[in-house]
Amino acid sequence: MARFRDYDIPVYTAAARHYHWWVAALIAVQIPIGFYMVYRGNEMVGVNDKGEPVKGVWDAVTGALYSSHKALGILILLLVLLRLGYRLTQGAPRSDPSVPPALTGISHLVHWSIYLLLIAVPIGGYLGISYGNYLDVFGVQLPGIVPENKDMSEQVFEYHELGAKILLGLVALHIGAAVFHKFIRKDRVVERMLPKKTTVV
Ligand code: HEM
Ligand code: HEM
Repeated sequence: MARFRDYDIPVYTAAARHYHWWVAALIAVQIPIGFYMVYRGNEMVGVNDKGEPVKGVWDAVTGALYSSHKALGILILLLVLLRLGYRLTQGAPRSDPSVPPALTGISHLVHWSIYLLLIAVPIGGYLGISYGNYLDVFGVQLPGIVPENKDMSEQVFEYHELGAKILLGLVALHIGAAVFHKFIRKDRVVERMLPKKTTVV
């Protein structure tokens, strides 16, 4: 079990903490890009060739946002698969014994639901671009995994959006829980995942 010099509590290993914060940072960029690009593509008012106002702006910026969202989403999926492989083989430090079992149970439920969505949401995104044949990423054509079907694409993206919103809700709950542990309950749960410079394994 990895322990830090300063605290006599079991903490996540350096690898687990790296995975956690990289995925957290990428998700913090990915979700706003997703909402903003869809706003630009569907809602933002631009002008057509005749100078008339139209909904939806498909310029280089919108295109770059879509390409970035796809590339980043695939990167997140790969990182989460590696992270899950690591988690399932290496386990996690035992739970903070000062936290009541019911609370620990809820936190585990939230963590595993987040993992599930971190896999399902990007796979849904890839399925959606495959059905819709929206496979271009900065001029590179990704391989499609299903035959073209625009109706299916639309349906899959409904679930993609719903999944992303549930993920956002769970992450908000998760961050709220971290604030609760740190400032209200004043236990050491958050220290388990904080980046530290020196580790003693
Ligand atoms: C964890 C990873 C991902 C998250 C959190 C995420 C999140 C989102 C969000 C919040 C939206 C906006 C939803 C809306 O307002 O309709 C969106 C849309 C979209 N996402 Fe993702 N996404 C992820 C991965 C991917 C991947 C891997 C792809 C494809 C390779 C992808 C393709 C798309 C596309 C094409 C849209 C636009 C759908 C539409 O126009 O209705 N996403 N995503
Ligand atoms: C300010 C932001 C965040 C803080 C302060 C934070 C804090 C923490 C802490 C302290 C733990 C360890 C809990 C324990 O000891 O049982 C943890 C675990 C976890 N966090 Fe976060 N987190 C943040 C953002 C995120 C985000 C954005 C995601 C998802 C994209 C995420 C996903 C997870 C998962 C899946 C675990 C479980 C780890 C495992 O046992 O495998 N966290 N987080």
